Amino acid sequence: MMRVYQIEHWDGPRCLAQAEVLAAFLEVVLPDDWSNFAEKLSGRRSLSAHVALDGQGRLIGLKLGYERNRGVFNSWMGGVAPEARGQGIAGALMDAQHAWAKEAGFRGLETATRQPNRAMAILNLKAGYLISGMDATAGEPTKILYYKSL
Ligand SMILES: CC(C)(COP(=O)(O)OP(=O)(O)OC[C@H]1O[C@@H](n2cnc3c(N)ncnc32)[C@H](O)[C@@H]1OP(=O)(O)O)[C@@H](O)C(=O)NCCC(=O)NCCS
Repeated sequence: MMRVYQIEHWDGPRCLAQAEVLAAFLEVVLPDDWSNFAEKLSGRRSLSAHVALDGQGRLIGLKLGYERNRGVFNSWMGGVAPEARGQGIAGALMDAQHAWAKEAGFRGLETATRQPNRAMAILNLKAGYLISGMDATAGEPTKILYYKSL
């Protein structure tokens, strides 16, 4: 069933205020330790999220990032609720994030995916990212790095 949803932009203070909601969502889409999420977000330059909300205002999609290298927006994490996948929500969130980053004056975007994450690799390439490197640090999951000029 196609879902009705809308995309909103949350600025840094809004992300911090909603840190628990974001962490609860991430627990489902990217199982990991998301405790003290507000702390992990605080102090990040240009912290910004694009969220997809369903008709009841529930969070069903997220794309969140911040400025790590000057002038480049780092798209740090994201995901779509399992029951809402396959309907273009991740693609729509990326489009919104990239348009926002360009408008905000960033010269480029960077992101990274774990090497086996085929869906995100396809999405990133479709959204205009190019592979810029690989991070194969011993003891860590291998990551593919991407960059997109705006
Ligand atoms: C990856 C993820 C965000 C995709 O969300 P989605 O809303 O289902 O994606 P979309 O519907 O926008 O898909 C857009 C395109 O991406 C590709 N794609 C999406 N899911 C895919 C999959 N499982 N396998 C292969 N390609 C896939 C397709 O090309 C798709 O276009 P198409 O439907 O025209 O074929 C979602 O599966 C997810 O949340 N996964 C777990 C969390 C995660 O991996 N987050 C990223 C790590 S930071």
